[in-house]
Amino acid sequence: MQNFILNRKIAQLAVLQRIELCEPSLKKMRKFLGRYLFSSFLSKYLINPVKISKSYFDLMEKEFLLIKKYLKNNDKILSIGSGIGGLEILINKNLNSHITFIEKNYISKKIKYGWDKNNQEAYNNLNLLKKFLLDNDIKKDKFAIFDFDKNKLPDTKFDLIVSLYSLDYHYEFELYKHYLNKVMKPETIIIFDTIRPDYFKQIYEKVEIIKQDFHTVHKSKRVVCSNL
Ligand SMILES: C[S@@+](CC[C@H](N)C(=O)[O-])C[C@H]1O[C@@H](n2cnc3c(N)ncnc32)[C@H](O)[C@@H]1O
Repeated sequence: MQNFILNRKIAQLAVLQRIELCEPSLKKMRKFLGRYLFSSFLSKYLINPVKISKSYFDLMEKEFLLIKKYLKNNDKILSIGSGIGGLEILINKNLNSHITFIEKNYISKKIKYGWDKNNQEAYNNLNLLKKFLLDNDIKKDKFAIFDFDKNKLPDTKFDLIVSLYSLDYHYEFELYKHYLNKVMKPETIIIFDTIRPDYFKQIYEKVEIIKQDFHTVHKSKRVVCSNL
């Protein structure tokens, strides 16, 4: 596998979720023409889905290689704010994992990429998430998708929880704190991006930093937390 199968609508979601996939010229247009035009029109029609497919694949492959050592064959994984799920496809294909997705099912009219105290910003479409997984050969019985705003969240234990640039990056960890306590086993590992890694030393026994983003607005760190 060298790239993902995706259509223009799914490529648009990838661009909204990972702004680094945007060509510099498109980023400039966003600055001049505004967030509304960018979110609704420019990000859809001024992109090349073939290029996005390749660059999204490369980005997700890098993310996969970074966290691979924390994963085992057949793990039960929870992904919070997966976006279209490229990383999860690679995890499933390499390690036969079952993936549970918790995501939101709307695209904000004017996406703001910042700390969202009320957690109103979202950029996903759960039908397109499902289509992307199936189109890239993930078996139906290997995933389940939950809408954060509508569904009762799954009450089961996970081996690993992953949330790249979502939990404690765009909205507060506290939103999920109680739920995570319910679904984590003593040996469960949780991986996410945050600007306050030290805060998590009060919550988890082990907090390891595996990546630092110096060039983004957030200057976040990727942490791997566990209690063993
Ligand atoms: C910046 S994107 C990151 C997507 C993906 N993890 C990646 O690394 O490409 C953040 C994602 O979090 C989702 N999101 C926002 N609030 C959420 C919530 N309460 N629960 C789950 N996902 C949420 C958004 O819809 C969006 O897809």
